[in-house]
Amino acid sequence: MFNIEEFDIKLDTEFIGRNFIYSDEVESTNSLLLTSKEFNQNGTVLLAEHQTKGRGRKDRTWISNAGQNLTFSILLKSDLKDHKINLINLGSSVVVAQALENLFQLDIELKWPNDVLVAKKKIAGILLESTSKGNKINRIVVGIGINVNQPNYPGKFDIQPTSIRKEFKSIVSRERLLSEILNLFEDMVDIWKKEPNKILNDWRNRCKMIGERIKIIDEEKVKAGIFIDIDDYGFMELKIADKIEKIHFGDVSLR
Ligand code: BTN
Repeated sequence: MFNIEEFDIKLDTEFIGRNFIYSDEVESTNSLLLTSKEFNQNGTVLLAEHQTKGRGRKDRTWISNAGQNLTFSILLKSDLKDHKINLINLGSSVVVAQALENLFQLDIELKWPNDVLVAKKKIAGILLESTSKGNKINRIVVGIGINVNQPNYPGKFDIQPTSIRKEFKSIVSRERLLSEILNLFEDMVDIWKKEPNKILNDWRNRCKMIGERIKIIDEEKVKAGIFIDIDDYGFMELKIADKIEKIHFGDVSLR
């Protein structure tokens, strides 16, 4: 059971999580915040103990034991400039990394675009989605799934999952972790508006694949090259032969 008081006491934000919705079960916290007329306030956070249709990137499912992990979404509504939205994607993975470093001293690696890894295993994933009217974005939903106190992960996965419990060797407070993430997230939204290069640099500092020869798979296409850097919008610059190609989507692996 999630203790809302324990969470609230450590929440130090002005708008992120001030409208907090806790639910036992929903289809997907992202789907609900994207479409709900009822939950409409900037900074709303919806946390569900269980998702029946939890979604990951590229139409994958996100599986997470009920009551042991964190599956939640954050709604952003105001000041949305679409050309910088991908930086919120990268910034969200930096926020999760910082929270895991601050509270549990874990050695985090970020994998483009926004996987959060410990010892090459996936500890958290982020799914950013948006809705628009005409060419104006009116909602951004940042969905975050973190493997917190789940003890094991039977089955086959593209990237082997792990949890904080497995890496930190102890059961941890989901309440404290969520408040830390939301506090850092609010700071990140401010940095996104004023100092976007900081997000890029914080992300670069945690990515060990820059400079490496990699393979990127997007739908049927496989591209191989050197991961040169990310550009000002957070997209990948991949050097293939003598040309630099911009990559917007895809799954990265070392070649
Ligand atoms: C990925 O790594 O593929 C992204 C996973 C994102 C999962 C989270 S859990 C909360 C939110 N609701 C969803 O349906 N998905 C995101």
